[in-house]
Parts: sequence; structure tokens; C-alpha cells
Amino acid sequence: MTEHADDRTVVSEHYGRGDLAARILAALRAAGKVPDALAADDLAPVDQFHTRGKDATLELARLAGVTPEMRVLDVGGGLGGPARTLASEIGCSVEVLDVTEEFCRAGEMLTTRTGLGDLVSFRHASALDMPHSDASFDAVWMQHSSMNIADKERLFAEIQRVLRPGGHLALHEIMAGPVAPIYFPVPWARGPEINFLRPPEEVRALITGTGFEELAWMDETASALRWFRERLAAADAASGELPPLGLHLVLGADLGQMFRNLARNLQEDRAVVVQGVFERP
Ligand SMILES: C[S@@+](CC[C@H](N)C(=O)[O-])C[C@H]1O[C@@H](n2cnc3c(N)ncnc32)[C@H](O)[C@@H]1O
Repeated sequence: MTEHADDRTVVSEHYGRGDLAARILAALRAAGKVPDALAADDLAPVDQFHTRGKDATLELARLAGVTPEMRVLDVGGGLGGPARTLASEIGCSVEVLDVTEEFCRAGEMLTTRTGLGDLVSFRHASALDMPHSDASFDAVWMQHSSMNIADKERLFAEIQRVLRPGGHLALHEIMAGPVAPIYFPVPWARGPEINFLRPPEEVRALITGTGFEELAWMDETASALRWFRERLAAADAASGELPPLGLHLVLGADLGQMFRNLARNLQEDRAVVVQGVFERP
């Protein structure tokens, strides 16, 4: 299956809402933050768009050996939460590449307000057609961004092309479980049109078949499921009342249903969460 320009439009429409930057700024004020002087962590409720938030990002960074002198490409980096975490906690420079233009614009605005503009930048482009020269990054980063991408053969070939020899691919991704189909809506898709999960062993073989050497591969489904249960219990305790700042600003009012469906998909082996690190020889 290939990704067409039409798929990219549908993916951008799924994530983009038109006035996201203004809504995030209003929500930050409502949450008592000063939007001109933000710490990266102030944005965590809205910009860590993956299971287990910042903990998962720092865990993967340790596993992948990310160091301050590295230049990292965050593929499908969204609003830049993982990129700002890597920059502020490790000190490396990160370029976010994302197909949703609104995420890139809002992400740039947030990055300036956190004072991380020297380390984090954004590029609006598709992971299937990266505007970078060969061997230009020390590490390629992916957290929950391959679910909308059908042509994973081309995705991993592009990643290999832009990585320098000895560079690492670090991934933390949702993949297909042994049971089908998944329940919709989920945070990355309201229906099957832009859902392209593949089984972990297929993805693993594809990456090594592209020429990568595997350094780590771990099923993280149990910890993801625990995290969802805690979040859903907290939401129930708040009687469904939403805090000012949260992913509902991005995904809309059915975020709760999307989270419950994702937890159920993980619980019923319809989806799994995997962490992996690979080296380009
Ligand atoms: C669930 S969000 C994850 C965002 C970010 N990685 C994080 O963890 O906060 C998925 C992201 O993948 C991006 N994406 C989907 N297909 C893409 C493609 N072909 N090229 C680049 N980005 C893509 C979406 O626009 C979205 O920002």
C-alpha cells in the first residue's frame, strides 16, 4: 500500500483544527501559566501525544544513547513535546518533521515561548519524502507516528537514507495485535481510512531487511495499559470534567472515547506498544 497526497491531506485534517495555537495559549492562561515564559513541562498535558508521556521519551532516550552533541530528527514529531523534552533534558538539537502544518506552526510558537528555539526547529513535510540530504542525522526518533503511514517500506528506507552510518533509529510505536479489527475512534484515526497498523514481527523484519542492525526490541503493552487505566480512573474521579489544557484541544470532545478504545484495543490484544532501537551499519 502506498501513501497518496490525498492520505496526507486526510491525516492533516484529522490532527489539524485551524485555531490550535490560539486555543493552547488561552488554555495555558486558564491553567494559570504565563504563556511568554513557559517551561517545557508546562505543556506536557497537550504536547506529549503518546503513551506514558515524558517518562517514555526519557526511557527511550537512555535506551538509544542520545547525547548532547547529537542532531536528532523527530519523524512525525507533532507539536514537539518529545523534541523539547530531548532538548531541555539532554541538550541535543532536534528537528521535528511533520505532515500536519498546523502542528509545525503551533509547535514553533510553543518552542519560542519555552526558550528552546536554538535547539528545536520544525519542518512541514512527509516522512515518505524527507527534504534532507543523505546521512544528515545522528539519530532518528519516532513516537507514535507510524500508525497513519501505509508505505512503511519507504518510511524505513527514507530513515536509513538520512541517518549517518552508526546512527540510531529509536522507535516507540503502536502496532497491530494478533486480534482484529481494532475499535474506532482511536487517537490517530476516526476510522480505518488512515489506520495502517502492522504486526510487530512484520515491522521488525522490515527494519532489519532494510539493512538496520537491531539493538533493542521490547513489548511495552503492559506498562502502556497500566498508564491508561490510571488516566481513565483519574478522569472518572473528575466526573469527566476536562482540565483547561489537554489533548482534547487537539482531538476534540471524543478524546475520552478514543482513549477508552485504545485501552480496550491493548487489553484485548488488538493493538500492542513496542519500543525498539536499531543501528545503521
Ligand atoms: C499521535 S501524533 C504523535 C506526535 C508526537 N510524536 C508525540 O509523541 O507527541 C502522530 C503524528 O504523526 C504525524 N504524521 C502522520 N503521518 C505522517 C507522515 N507521513 N509524515 C510526517 N508526519 C506524519 C501526524 O501529523 C502527527 O503529528
